[in-house]
Amino acid sequence: MENKKAVQLKKFSINNEEKAPLTTNQGLKVSEDEFSLKAGLRGPTLMEDFHFREKMTHFDHERIPERVVHARGVGAHGIFQLYDSLVEYTKADFLTDTSKTTPVFVRFSTVQGSKGSSDTVRDVRGFATKFYTDEGNFDLVGNNMPVFFIQDAIKFPDFVHALKPEPHTEIPQGASAHDTFWDFIGQNHESAHMVMWAMSDRAIPRSLRMMEGFGVHTFRLINADGDAHFVKFHWKPKLGVHSLVWDEAQRIAGKNPDFHRQDLYEAIEKGDFPEWELGLQIIPEKDEFNFDFDILDPTKLWPEEEVPVKIVGKMTLNRNVQNFFAETEQVAFHPGHVVPGIDFSNDPLLQGRLFSYTDTQLSRLGGPNFHQIPINQPVCPFHNNQRDGMHQMTIHQGQTSYHRNGLNANQPEPAPVELGGYESYQEKIDGRKIRGRSESFLDFYSQAKLFYNSLAPFEQKHLKDALSFELGKCKSGMVKNNAVALLNHIDRQIAEEVAGNIGAELPEENLEVKSDKKSPALS
Ligand code: HEM
Repeated sequence: MENKKAVQLKKFSINNEEKAPLTTNQGLKVSEDEFSLKAGLRGPTLMEDFHFREKMTHFDHERIPERVVHARGVGAHGIFQLYDSLVEYTKADFLTDTSKTTPVFVRFSTVQGSKGSSDTVRDVRGFATKFYTDEGNFDLVGNNMPVFFIQDAIKFPDFVHALKPEPHTEIPQGASAHDTFWDFIGQNHESAHMVMWAMSDRAIPRSLRMMEGFGVHTFRLINADGDAHFVKFHWKPKLGVHSLVWDEAQRIAGKNPDFHRQDLYEAIEKGDFPEWELGLQIIPEKDEFNFDFDILDPTKLWPEEEVPVKIVGKMTLNRNVQNFFAETEQVAFHPGHVVPGIDFSNDPLLQGRLFSYTDTQLSRLGGPNFHQIPINQPVCPFHNNQRDGMHQMTIHQGQTSYHRNGLNANQPEPAPVELGGYESYQEKIDGRKIRGRSESFLDFYSQAKLFYNSLAPFEQKHLKDALSFELGKCKSGMVKNNAVALLNHIDRQIAEEVAGNIGAELPEENLEVKSDKKSPALS
């Protein structure tokens, strides 16, 4: 079956291997490309050398800003095939029509390092998928871990400032072994669960083909009758989950910083296509409060024994990019790119992400028309009254560009819901305007402990070794002590061992508390 995205991208491609005369950007054939125009053979270059100026100016502007996070990444194309219709839960056509094959583009990334950093560092991995559906693009912008460090988007700039290389030295690149990162963690116990994942073997995947993916947030599925279910999205790799060991990861980082991107590229080139199954955890709306955690809290997972993962389809990555910049670098993912049948929840981290992505892409990709960049275009028609702006690539014709429009009946107008118009789920909201978080978010340690207890003894050892290695690199005694105080709330024995390894103070006892914070009282 023809892949609609591949066909669309082909229209934008130019084959540089075809013999064609060299021209300027104005189409002027160039007769000489090795010597600039000079006043005399040994004289200065002339200002009038338009060919030199055009070539050099373009080169001078070849780079665009790297992503503020997830700068280092690698992408590939593929397809998604649904196994059984999910019509009971959603009206999204790519999740209900099993005859459809949906083109996808995936970008894997590390979070902390710059565009040129190493692949095998200890870090969270981004796992972002763009589904080019017939109803518009749906982006599942996830990670390879099921939870996150913070509960509210307003803390994200602080978290990233602490995580990134320290501003006075730009060190370290691609590792969590530094004071600002651990200072943040020690002061923000809501990170306890995620930090255990980040110190586990999950943070040093053996191959991108051997990682799970998680949407992390709670979303909603809405069916044709308007009924809603809460949902979490999962990717399960057919090759299973495998990690490097720390020593291996460090050596590879030095010997081949491109280890992961090369592995993915080569596997696809030789036809060994990586596959993931899409899994859904689904909770009916009526059960929202039946758990001992808040299902809107992004630092909590939904235990699979309580909410089983339903496998619904398969993604296969079967085509490498033709041009890294045009595809992998220019792709713009956004958790707010949804299609009818999928909607958001009130997870306060997700709510903030809905603002952040377009905002950052406006500067990264140079203005409001980056949806016209080939990799970002939907495969279905897109048609509205938005006009002009930097890098406009479309010649909109006609007199009018507004709704409601009496002069030209063929102008774009909202489609009724029955014809595919997107309708936000009519959730009932009744509350007071307040800065704070619900009491139900204030259990920071239980799932961190649960995760640790779920590990095999050798995995627990790796985790304690990682904590000792990373914290051992910190210079501040206060930072080390605070981190041990956090570990002490999770598991006394981890705290004892790590404190011993790094020479930090051990709190006298492990007090049975769930959180170090209080929720602001409603007046
Ligand atoms: C990339 C913001 C949390 C996954 C980005 C980018 C920004 C951002 C500004 C760069 C986008 C670009 O330049 O195109 C935020 C904010 C968050 C947040 C404000 C929390 C409030 C998360 C979480 C996940 C995640 C929880 C995982 C579930 C990703 C991924 C990318 C990314 C995978 C890279 C996308 C790509 O490959 O192009 N994020 N992020 N982020 N974020 Fe987040």
